[in-house]
Amino acid sequence: MRRHYAIVPAAGSGSRFGSGTPKQYLDLLGRPLIHHTLKALVACPAVDRVWVVLSPEDNEWNRHDWSDLGPKLETLRCGGTTRADSVSNGLQAAAMVAADDDWILVHDAARPCISGAMLGALFAELADDPVGGILAVPVADTLKRADAEQRVAATEPRDGLWQAQTPQMFRYGLLREALEKCREVTDEAGAIEALGLKPKLVRADATNFKVTYPADLALAAMILRGRK
Ligand code: CTP
Ligand code: MG
Repeated sequence: MRRHYAIVPAAGSGSRFGSGTPKQYLDLLGRPLIHHTLKALVACPAVDRVWVVLSPEDNEWNRHDWSDLGPKLETLRCGGTTRADSVSNGLQAAAMVAADDDWILVHDAARPCISGAMLGALFAELADDPVGGILAVPVADTLKRADAEQRVAATEPRDGLWQAQTPQMFRYGLLREALEKCREVTDEAGAIEALGLKPKLVRADATNFKVTYPADLALAAMILRGRK
C-alpha cells in the first residue's frame, strides 16, 4: 500500500486580497481560514501526514492554537518566492519520509471548502492511475477576451476547458522530478505536462474555490456554515 501525504503551501502574502494579514490567517467562522483547510486533510483517513509550508518570516502561525488538528500535522518553515518554490522546498523536506511511489497531494491553504467527498473522488479515480491528476470543474460561463480598454475583443470557445483546482495528486518521485525541471508553472499539473504526461481531470465542484478577493471570504463562510 502506497502512502498519501499532503503538502499545503501557505507562504503567500495574499496581495490580491489586500489585507494586512495574509489571507490564510483571516477569521473564518471563528478560526483562521487555513485551520478549515488543514482540518479537512487531517480528518481524511487515507492521508498519513500533512505538511504545511510557511514563510520563514511568518509571525502569525504561532499566535494560534492548532492542537485539535492532531499529530498528522507538521510545520515546515521553508516557503519560497513563488508557490512552485514553496511546494518544491516542501517536497525536499519530505524526502526523509516519502518514497518515490507514495502519493503527494498538493492543496492550497486558501481553499478551505475542500470536502471529504471531493478527496474521496480524487483517491478513487486516481488509485491505479499511472500519471496522477487534479480536481477541476468544467468552465460554465461564456468566456470573453478583454482589450486594453476593458471591452470585449473576442468570445473564446469554452469547449473542453476546465478550471484547475487543488488537491493535485502525483507520485512523490515524479512530482519532484517535474518541479526540478520546470519551475515556471502556476500548478503542479503544469510541471507534469511539461514532461509530456497528461494528468487526469477529476470532476469536483465550484465550492472548492480559492479565496482570492475579499468577497470570497463571506462565500466560504456560507458554504461551510451550510454543511454544518
Ligand atoms: N503560496 C506559497 N508560496 C508563495 C506564494 C503562494 O506557499 N510564494 C501559497 C499561498 O499561501 C496559497 C497558495 O499558494 O495558499 C495559492 O496561492 P495564491 O492564492 O496565489 O495566494 P497568494 O500568493 O498568497 O495570493 P496573491 O497571489 O493574491 O498574492
Ligand atoms: Mg499568488
